[in-house]
Amino acid sequence: MFLNTLILQASISFGDENRPLSNETLDLSALFPGGTTSVSVKRNNNAFSHPSAALTFEDKLDFKVGKAVFEKLWVSSPSSTTASDGLGPLYNARSCARCHVNNGRGHAPGNKLEPSIIRPISLFVRLSIPPNLQQIESIDDGAIPFVPEPTYGAQLQGFANPGGHAEGRLKVRYETTMLSLNGGQVVTLYAPSYEVVALGYGPMHPKTMISPRVAPPMIGLGLLDNISSQDLEALADPEDVDNNGISGRTRRVLNRKTGKIEVGRFGWKGGAPNLEQQNAAALFHDIGIGSALFPEPWGDCTTAQQDCRAAPHGNTARHEGLEASKKLTQLLLDYTQHLSVPARLERNESNNLDVRAGQKIFHEIGCADCHRPSFITRNNADHPTLSEQTIWPYTDLLLHDMGPGLADNRPEGNATGREWRTAPLWGLGFAPEQTLDKQTAQNKSYLHDGRANNLIEAILWHGGEALASAESVKQLLPLQRQHLLDFLESL
Ligand code: HEC
Ligand code: HEC
Repeated sequence: MFLNTLILQASISFGDENRPLSNETLDLSALFPGGTTSVSVKRNNNAFSHPSAALTFEDKLDFKVGKAVFEKLWVSSPSSTTASDGLGPLYNARSCARCHVNNGRGHAPGNKLEPSIIRPISLFVRLSIPPNLQQIESIDDGAIPFVPEPTYGAQLQGFANPGGHAEGRLKVRYETTMLSLNGGQVVTLYAPSYEVVALGYGPMHPKTMISPRVAPPMIGLGLLDNISSQDLEALADPEDVDNNGISGRTRRVLNRKTGKIEVGRFGWKGGAPNLEQQNAAALFHDIGIGSALFPEPWGDCTTAQQDCRAAPHGNTARHEGLEASKKLTQLLLDYTQHLSVPARLERNESNNLDVRAGQKIFHEIGCADCHRPSFITRNNADHPTLSEQTIWPYTDLLLHDMGPGLADNRPEGNATGREWRTAPLWGLGFAPEQTLDKQTAQNKSYLHDGRANNLIEAILWHGGEALASAESVKQLLPLQRQHLLDFLESL
């Protein structure tokens, strides 16, 4: 109501053609992107760390304990505190929160202006080699997503427990290109190139493919987990039957619990079918902690890394013979399911108009064809707060060919080396600090490897199926482009 009045008044006071007014009625539910789970918060570093507004008092207690698990610093075994040991032997970070800083996105490694050699933290590097014929079959069946590098495994770990060897460091270099937009604005794009150096276990397979990825934001994941697979399948258009230049395919992945192939939805290539499995994979690959779905205590150590497989581990009877008990993974699930998507902030009257003009452009130039505005989550009696919520994540969770510029050229399951899952856009305007490192804190890091310092760079990297959209953004009048950014920042 209130908004409609604003728009009406505004259409009287601004007749300016540069301020196109949207004639769509703004759906008020869009102001609460997480439905009744959204909370009204300030734009600060805590913006992504609030529990869902719909939780009961008891649920909130589990959320709080889950938060402690997410922030827990794991230690190596043997240790006097069996509650927190089992770290490694190889690992990327000692806690979930070390990468998912403030529950927000991770940051690109190093300095974009000069080459650097670093131990990446909130970015990690996936590794694989081309499959042989038999392995191709297993990938097609969905039994395995890729063939890990024979010595280093599925992921490069930059840290090892005392007495062990870290696997390596990352050398990063950015090459710059300047792009001119209609109206004269020039945008610099930073194209990263990576090399793994200081290898701890000898040379890698000569055909190793690498995929560097930053940590994505943690908000609204329980809601995304509850979008029905049928809805996603219905959106997919692999042959582009509607002929809009945009196909969109579902990722197919193995659900380790049911043994079935399901729609993948988490990770930059949709590599995990649900939140529980994504969390367990993170414990295993990123921290070196075994749990029911990934039970081995040595994490990503391969048979070629015997020292690491033989190192002390943290399996204990207290945790059902594992490093992390069912109780612990349940708490992690409670926490990651219920991080609230902030309610959108309307800054002021004139900004509302800009935002609505930007929203219209967002639809007109095809952004919404992939960044699908809204869904209604499935009926889920076990989780009433996540059930039948009208949500506004701005993603279709499908894989799209994003062109050669963004390609990692490393296929994963049925996702090609050019495909990525549409990134959700909710919460973009809140963006908490991404790093504890003051030096790099001023830059934001968008896209799968954090290469884009701001939203316009992120958009201009879009290629492949999204090339036409990106071209349209270049052609927009400067004020229209600003409106598009105003809209994104209002999310
Ligand atoms: C070393 C850094 C790092 C650590 C530690 C880490 N993560 Fe992540 N996380 C990532 C990256 C990078 C991705 C993207 C993975 C991909 O594309 O497959 C990710 C993805 C996720 C996602 C999927 C989000 C989405 O939008 O698809 C969840 C959930 C998640 N992590 C939970 C956790 C939990 C729980 C822990 C602790 C047990 C953890 N992570 C530890 C870096 C990390
Ligand atoms: C063909 C599908 C498609 C279209 C069309 C599309 N996008 Fe995207 N968008 C994606 C995918 C996939 C990613 C993730 C790419 C990556 O990380 O490499 C993404 C990422 C983004 C990001 C960065 C999000 C993040 O968390 O880092 C922004 C911002 C964005 N898109 C905005 C837009 C806007 C604005 C438009 C319209 C001009 C648009 N997109 C059109 C698929 C699309």
